[in-house]
Amino acid sequence: MKAIRGATTVTEDKPDLIRQAVKELLNAISQANGLEAEQIICIMFSSTSDLKSYYPAKAAREAGYATCALYSSLEPEIGGALEKCIRVMLLVDGDKQPEHVYLNGAKNLRKDITSVLNIAVDGPAGSGKSTVCKLVAKRLGILYLDTGAMYRAIAYKCVKDKRDYGDKDVVKHIINKLNLKVEYREGKQITLLDGEDVSELIRTPQVSMLASYISAYSFVRTKMVALQREIVQKTSCILDGRDIGTNVLPDCKFKFYLNASSEVRAKRRFDEDQAKGGTQTFEQVLKEINERDFQDKNRAVAPLQKAKDALEIDTSYMAIDEVVNEIISKVQEKI
Ligand code: DC
Repeated sequence: MKAIRGATTVTEDKPDLIRQAVKELLNAISQANGLEAEQIICIMFSSTSDLKSYYPAKAAREAGYATCALYSSLEPEIGGALEKCIRVMLLVDGDKQPEHVYLNGAKNLRKDITSVLNIAVDGPAGSGKSTVCKLVAKRLGILYLDTGAMYRAIAYKCVKDKRDYGDKDVVKHIINKLNLKVEYREGKQITLLDGEDVSELIRTPQVSMLASYISAYSFVRTKMVALQREIVQKTSCILDGRDIGTNVLPDCKFKFYLNASSEVRAKRRFDEDQAKGGTQTFEQVLKEINERDFQDKNRAVAPLQKAKDALEIDTSYMAIDEVVNEIISKVQEKI
């Protein structure tokens, strides 16, 4: 007797989708292992707690697996676990080496046995990076490092101390004395400048433009990149920015490049600004997005560009969840 394992995922908790997924999984296992129906002694399923609309055992019976014992159970909720997942174990007669089958990105990310996992996400302003990265981090139970916040903190210091950001020596002085720390409170990144929490203060249009400007100085980048590498070396995290895949972590196994038309990106930023009671017009926001793109893509050091081995995702007309699912399934596939 031997045990064969398998798993699959569904996109929604719907009876039809569960029936279809179970049939597809059992047929794939039977085919991969050359199984005859009478060899199967029993089939045991477990589903994640977000799948309640149909019992996989019932679906198996309906799919023609009717002569063996069938069993289904619900798993407890586990933070960071794969969502909407059906796992199965078949006990079968025979002594051939079992072929385990994982479909639809259902290979499990075992945080306890996976060494440090880093996911690099680059893209222009408004492409959806931070929203998506926060959700991916939550689902995988890893941290999210917003590297833009680090450049923003330096820009904020120039504004706050009324320093001339166009004078290289002034910015160099700030960098040499910089007291910048990134901490996590309840999984949320806190950016500390000289001990002060500046996480919200760095989110103004003025700081956005300035951050883009000062990030072109090579000495600023050298310092930030060293800090970022130090953080991610020890910590599983998804980090976003402009040069993560090309410069910060060139050997990273998981690289994504998010993109969207400048109009769509400007609309997202415009809506965010309006929600915060901002007064910018759509035209102003679009102009700033285009200027920032130009600055970020045309600087001499580590400009914004897609790494050759990054997967590009155009988020213009995708729902946030679709982008999140795409990244997670690509990561699960390669793990
Ligand atoms: O992602 P953001 O909008 O918070 O970034 C602000 C600016 O910081 C961005 O216009 C360019 C710069 N930046 C960078 O040069 N490299 C990074 N890895 C992240 C941000």
